[in-house]
This record gives sequence, structure tokens and C-alpha cells, in this order.
Amino acid sequence: MKVRDILEKACHENILTKDEIKLLLMAEGEDKDLLFKTADRVRKEHVGDEVFLRGLIEFSSYCKNDCFYCGLRRSNNQAQRYRMQEDEIVEVAKRAYQMGYRTVVLQSGEDMYYNKDMLCSIIKKIKSSVDVAITLSIGERSYDEYKAFKDAGADRFLMRFETSNRQLYEKYHPGMSFENRIECLKWIKSLGYELGTGFLIGLPGQTIDDLVQDILLVKELDADMIGIGPFIPHPQTPLKDAKEGSVDLTLKSIAILRLLIPDANIPATTALGTLDPLGRQKGLMCGANIVMPNVNDLKYKLKYELYPGKICINEDATKCRGCIESIIVSLGRKVGQGKGQSRHYKRAA
Ligand code: SAM
Ligand code: SF4
Ligand code: FES
Repeated sequence: MKVRDILEKACHENILTKDEIKLLLMAEGEDKDLLFKTADRVRKEHVGDEVFLRGLIEFSSYCKNDCFYCGLRRSNNQAQRYRMQEDEIVEVAKRAYQMGYRTVVLQSGEDMYYNKDMLCSIIKKIKSSVDVAITLSIGERSYDEYKAFKDAGADRFLMRFETSNRQLYEKYHPGMSFENRIECLKWIKSLGYELGTGFLIGLPGQTIDDLVQDILLVKELDADMIGIGPFIPHPQTPLKDAKEGSVDLTLKSIAILRLLIPDANIPATTALGTLDPLGRQKGLMCGANIVMPNVNDLKYKLKYELYPGKICINEDATKCRGCIESIIVSLGRKVGQGKGQSRHYKRAA
């Protein structure tokens, strides 16, 4: 089957077989250009030219987990740890609102210092101070906690399954279980959150067939938001000598998922911009419609080191806002107004 025919089928049916996805992941030259152009067109048709910005607040660098790839893993005793206090988090959310953000993403390591009551209180305080959507990205919790956060006012939840290959998942996430991860994602969806999930590209040992399954799992979970980023080796982790993930495969995965879930929100991730100076622009041109600039103070930005060389680490929040706006305009797009709820979510509601 030709790439042109596969793309046509994807546009009409939003379904692809394993072999078709694999062919698209391996597309080169004109075929690859056609994949990117088609995804860009589908993005325009389904979610328009607006690029929505999310203000990212990384509020704790403590983590109880030991993910092999991440600089915040608990065994990294050189990691710099910090916790922002409740009022400080609320203040940063207010500042983000004043800068024009209408969504804030509260992200952290899996840090149980922030118990159910504390997180509910933070969510309620933000919601009563400013009119923003709140996305949580805090990892695995109990059903009861997810429910309490939703009742407190959280709107969205981001948690990647990282890899759909169970053996690889368990190898790189000691003490964690793939089943539990998936169960959490299903709970989150059933509680009425906008669900964001996705995977890492280029974990050592990951094959093209694994990526095909990753793409199909995002579709099966019916994600409203899709986060895909290349793996970047961190020198203080067991994967320090591994090769970084491929920007090209990341872009192709974004493009394919735009075709499979045309009205989802898909960010051009910071990791993509870290491996390629034009990575975020390229992501926005092959299906992505979201960017998540960090709104934290520099003193915290520097300490939240998932991987080395992270972009924007020395830029303050105002500078990033201006920078990203000019990038969006230079691509002929516009900065989204309002909260930018996922149209996929809206359609299902
Ligand atoms: N702790 C929460 C969790 O794991 O869902 C949220 C924060 S975690 C730092 C956010 C994401 O960072 C993870 O889902 C993972 O994919 C990504 N990440 C961690 N280390 C990375 C690395 N070395 N390269 C690229 N992405 C990485
Ligand atoms: Fe912790 Fe998330 Fe990093 Fe894993 S990816 S070590 S859960 S912060
Ligand atoms: Fe941070 Fe460009 S977005 S410096």
C-alpha cells in the first residue's frame, strides 16, 4: 500500500493497522513530507490555527520513584530538591494568569508530602483566585485522591504510560507496575478529567513495533491530550550512556496521532525543543497545537532537571512568554485565547 493511500484512509476513518502505522513511521523523503503536510492540514481543519499556551509550575523536585531515565529519580543523590509551599504555588498561578495564561499545569515528582487535603486546598485556592483550568501532572495516586482533586476543581490530568512494552516498562520503573499505570489512566478518564497521556521515544531496547503499539494504546485510551517526547539521557541516571531518542520519530508519532485523534490537544514538547533548536516549531508544523512554557522562578527551574540542556532554563517567565508568542506568529499561527479545552473531550461530553 502506498503512503498516499494510507494517509487518505487515516483522514477518512481515523483508524490504521499496525502495518500501516509502521510504514508511516519509516516514511522518508516525499512520503514523510506528505505525512507532515497531511497532519498539518488535519490539525488546521479540526483544531484551527490557535496555539494554546499552558503555564507549567513544577512545584516539587522530590520523587519516591526511581525511573531509570529521569534526573529526579530518588536514587539520584546529586539532584537538587525543593518543595514550593502552598501559598507560593497559588501566587505563581496568579502571576501566570496576569501574564495571560488560562491553564496552569501543576507538575511534580511523585511526592507524597503533598497529601490529599493539601493538594485539594491548593486547587481550591487557585480556582477561587483566578479563572484558569488546572491540569495535574503528579503521577500515580489512589482513586479516592483522583476523585477528591476533581471535586476540588482540577480539570485535566497528564500522565504518560511511557512505554506500552510491559517488559521495558517494568525494567525501567523498578517497583512500579504497568497494570497499575493503565488502571490509574482509566480511573482518571472515568472521573471526567480531560485525559492526557503518551510515551517516550527512544528508550533503549524500544523497537519500531513497540512505537506502533504505543500509538495504538494512546488511541485505545481515547486520550484528549497527547504528550510525546524524545528520551534525553541524564548523566546521573543508569541510562546515562544511552543514545538520545529520535526527533524524526517523535515528529512522525505526533503526525500519526493527529490523524488518529484529529481533535486532541497535542503539545510540541520542551524535550523536542531541547534536542533540536527548531523542534517545537517542527512539532507545531506536523500536528501539534500546544506549548507549555515554564512560569516558575529561575531558582526552581534550574533544579527541576529531568534531563540536561533543557531549553529556557535561564530565561525568566516573561521572556519565554514573549519568545514563544513570536515563534507562534512567525509560523502564521495565533496564540489561543481562553482555556483551550480539548475539542476531543468537548465532543464526547
Ligand atoms: N512524576 C510525574 C510522572 O512521572 O508522571 C510527572 C513529572 S515527570 C518528570 C514528567 C515526564 O517527564 C515523564 O512522563 C517522562 O516522560 C518525562 N521525562 C523524565 N525524564 C526524562 C528524560 N530523561 N528525557 C525525556 N523525558 C523525560
Ligand atoms: Fe519521578 Fe516522574 Fe521522574 Fe519517574 S518520571 S522519577 S515518577 S518525576
Ligand atoms: Fe523560553 Fe524561547 S520559549 S526562551
